[in-house]
Amino acid sequence: MSFDYKIADISLHEAGRHQIRLAEHEMPGLMALREEYAESQPLAGARIAGSLHMTVQTAVLIETLTALGAEVRWASCNIFSTQDEAAAAVVVGPQGTPENPQGVPVFAWKNETLEEYWWTASQIFAWPGADEDPSKGANMILDDGGDATLLVHKGVEFEAAGGVPSAQEDDPEEYRIILETLRKSLSENPQRWTGVAENLRGVTEETTTGVNRLYQLARQDALLFPAINVNDSVTKSKFDNKYGIRHSLPDGIMRATDVLIGGKVAVVCGYGDVGKGAAEALRGQGARVIVTEIDPINALQAAMDGYQVAKLDDVIEQGHIFITTTGGKDIISAEQMSRMRDKAIVGNVGHFDNEIDMAGLAATEGIQKIEIKPQVHEWVFPAGHSIIVLSEGRLLNLGNATGHPSFVMSSSFANQTIAQIELFAKSWKSGYTGEDAYASDVYTLPKVLDEKVARLHLQALGAELSELTKDQADYLGVDVAGPYKPDHYRY
Ligand code: NAI
Repeated sequence: MSFDYKIADISLHEAGRHQIRLAEHEMPGLMALREEYAESQPLAGARIAGSLHMTVQTAVLIETLTALGAEVRWASCNIFSTQDEAAAAVVVGPQGTPENPQGVPVFAWKNETLEEYWWTASQIFAWPGADEDPSKGANMILDDGGDATLLVHKGVEFEAAGGVPSAQEDDPEEYRIILETLRKSLSENPQRWTGVAENLRGVTEETTTGVNRLYQLARQDALLFPAINVNDSVTKSKFDNKYGIRHSLPDGIMRATDVLIGGKVAVVCGYGDVGKGAAEALRGQGARVIVTEIDPINALQAAMDGYQVAKLDDVIEQGHIFITTTGGKDIISAEQMSRMRDKAIVGNVGHFDNEIDMAGLAATEGIQKIEIKPQVHEWVFPAGHSIIVLSEGRLLNLGNATGHPSFVMSSSFANQTIAQIELFAKSWKSGYTGEDAYASDVYTLPKVLDEKVARLHLQALGAELSELTKDQADYLGVDVAGPYKPDHYRY
């Protein structure tokens, strides 16, 4: 087998394989799905274009998808998040060698430029023969943050308009790069993305930010294929976003700075699922945590959980550590950063890098940027004091550490795998005509599957679940086998 790929260093494959082996032990959900579907091969015929942090845990996901019959091409969804040894092991595959790789085409390495990033995003759609015959191309997307989905939608939009528009003066740098990537693509094949979109049965989306983008498209009636919102499976957002961050946020801060968190004042912007995990972790390390929120319900939750709730401006001089978790934009301004105390640490764990005004910081007159080590920069203001910015304002838990641990990602990725199986079989674009066919809209997985994912992980922890008697179940109006809660239940 020969295939194209682009990674940092294929000789790292052995180190990656050892880590994957250990991760498999901690990912009972994925391993159980491999066993359950080994024979029926529900993803046979699926060609999945994947865009999700190329970590060790993602390697176990990729090899689960291929074990279920899928073919896969993969890129990372962040320029800093790839673990190069995991990428190498996935390319080589469990049976291959560096000279004769038997795995999956991966286009990802740690420290991509934005131009390289968008090139890798386009490579996951470059299936052999797909330009001549679109039915040979990807028929599923597995997305994290929505960049792969965005590329297809923008490509189709510009092809229909007969070309790529010129960038406007106030367009962000990254949008200019997307335009350039698509301009090149259209010059090679003016109908490429139309063909790609027609062949796609759907997308399964991993994170809050990508899901928000999907609902926006659906509201505008502009979604080109069905989508499953994996993020809002309870066993995803209430676990990965919260307990995952509770682990990987302090991990990132510690690896980056070695600063003692205990005794410090930490300011967490946003108290959604990610913010709750972040605040708990920092408090667990002994920090005094202050929360900022715009939603009164989340703000009240923070107050009830014992945190001070304040406006960022009012505590900007107090904080030693500032973490954004909102999925919004312009949360910390350059002017605010200039008022922080000397050596304050500033980082983001929301999906995109526009939560912290990095462009404004770089444009501050007389500012000096010193690289302490990769993904750790000291920004020295003309007055002499400085701040430490992690991962240039991008996801620090993946840029400065290795992201969430395997066990919690097993829960997320079991949802991803189940969502891929569902959509591949039952998208209206699969030719499926049953009443439960997925139309071009956004769906969540049925609760019974959510409960199934939880069950798989409970077993691995040795937890013993109580069982309803038939009498108790009748009293509550549920089935003994579940689902146990109505859809509006909030956990
Ligand atoms: P969420 O919607 O539950 O929480 C975000 C919170 O931020 C909301 O409560 C909202 O009211 C608040 N907020 C919005 N604008 C604000 C502002 N200007 N100031 C203060 N608070 C503000 O979303 P969730 O699930 O917590 O995700 C947050 C972000 O983290 C998303 O971008 C998501 O994609 C990303 N994410 C990152 C992970 C990682 O590994 N780093 C893992 C999971 C999600």
